[in-house]
Amino acid sequence: MEHLIHNIGEIATLDYGDVSKPLAGIDMHNRENLVLEPGNAVLISNGIIKKIAEEDQLIEEFAPDYSNGNSEIINLVNAFGNAIIPGLVDCHTHLLWTGDRSNEMQMRQKGHSYQEISKLGGGIGRTVSSTRKASKKELISLGHQRLSQASLNGTTTIEAKSGYGLSVDSEIKLLQASSEINSQECNILPTWLGAHDFPNDKSNEEYIDELITEQLPFISENKLANWVDVFCEPGWYTLDQTEKIVTAAKELGLKSRLHVDEFVDSNGLSLAAELGSVSADHVGFSNLDSRSKAHASGTMQVFLPGTPYVLGKNLGNGINDCIENNWNFSLATDFNPNYQSISLPFVASLATHRLGIDPLTALVACTRNPASTLNSELKSNVGTIYEGGPADINILKSKFVDYWCQTPGLSPMSKTFFSGSIV
Ligand code: NIG
Ligand code: FE
Repeated sequence: MEHLIHNIGEIATLDYGDVSKPLAGIDMHNRENLVLEPGNAVLISNGIIKKIAEEDQLIEEFAPDYSNGNSEIINLVNAFGNAIIPGLVDCHTHLLWTGDRSNEMQMRQKGHSYQEISKLGGGIGRTVSSTRKASKKELISLGHQRLSQASLNGTTTIEAKSGYGLSVDSEIKLLQASSEINSQECNILPTWLGAHDFPNDKSNEEYIDELITEQLPFISENKLANWVDVFCEPGWYTLDQTEKIVTAAKELGLKSRLHVDEFVDSNGLSLAAELGSVSADHVGFSNLDSRSKAHASGTMQVFLPGTPYVLGKNLGNGINDCIENNWNFSLATDFNPNYQSISLPFVASLATHRLGIDPLTALVACTRNPASTLNSELKSNVGTIYEGGPADINILKSKFVDYWCQTPGLSPMSKTFFSGSIV
């Protein structure tokens, strides 16, 4: 199927330099390099962006019978003067789980911390109890519902973690469910997070032994996940335990993306850099030395401002520190039972409206940069708009690219293409 998108406002191609690599610092908002002025059209053929060129030229070549916005030869898509951005890339979600923890809000408002709520029987453990009882079919159906929300908000590539099973069978069930979702709306890339917490039916040592001798070998042999993740935080997995699990995973050929420094700086980011993790996520409290070390080792820092937002906490200075120092960073939703938003435009609104981040910088942090941590598992590089690349594209409801993160609570998208098809 061929489409010719015409009557386009600005196009944020983000196509500057090597599109498989992230951008940092001022390169993230250099409009001259990253945004095309109105007047161009985009030709899509067989799921690929075939050509980006002046509208008149593309119409003459591919819709020679063009008259009043119609053509018999090609499917013309009128963008009505609206801007175009790449399909969004969410590199950190807890997609599959069941249950309801909305009563924990009241506990927080009474002054209980995330850690205390967990000790009182809430938190991850509570979601584990309900998720263990769910069938794979139920999880797949929830996955579809959540992905359609993500897609409505422009996401075309999503990472999906397990982590609410905490046993061999239920972690496998979660990963199999994410691989069986078979979405027509986005790419789904699974991560094993068996080390999200400790189950209450075994000792911590027994569980770590199970992770290393049973869960990880099964995941690797059956190719159920591309990465492993550990919740490395005081009260959950220590630095030593994290290192042990990631090292065992590495020996099985599995790369890592880790949860670190969410509540305190425990040098988790520094460990992630030493272990060569692809990404280190949360990183709200990481120190500047660790941030510099992470950048040097190629570990992407992924900020998840939705989480401190719902926990009533300060969003921190980490993002601005990265921009000032030219360190790579990304943004992601961290969709989970405690933060039930799967909208990247909302996360970017927090970054722009609350932290003063440029909308174009926020866009790079939700597309090209996170894509650089996921591209190895995809057919081609996502997160940018370039000739020969996958046709994952959003048409906004404004002629300006900057609109993309300025409708908090509502989707800024008027149309989304995934792999060349309108979703
Ligand atoms: O990334 N912090 C660890 N995991 C999730 C939250 C899990 C939960 O509360 O269910 C996160 O924020
Ligand atoms: Fe998370």
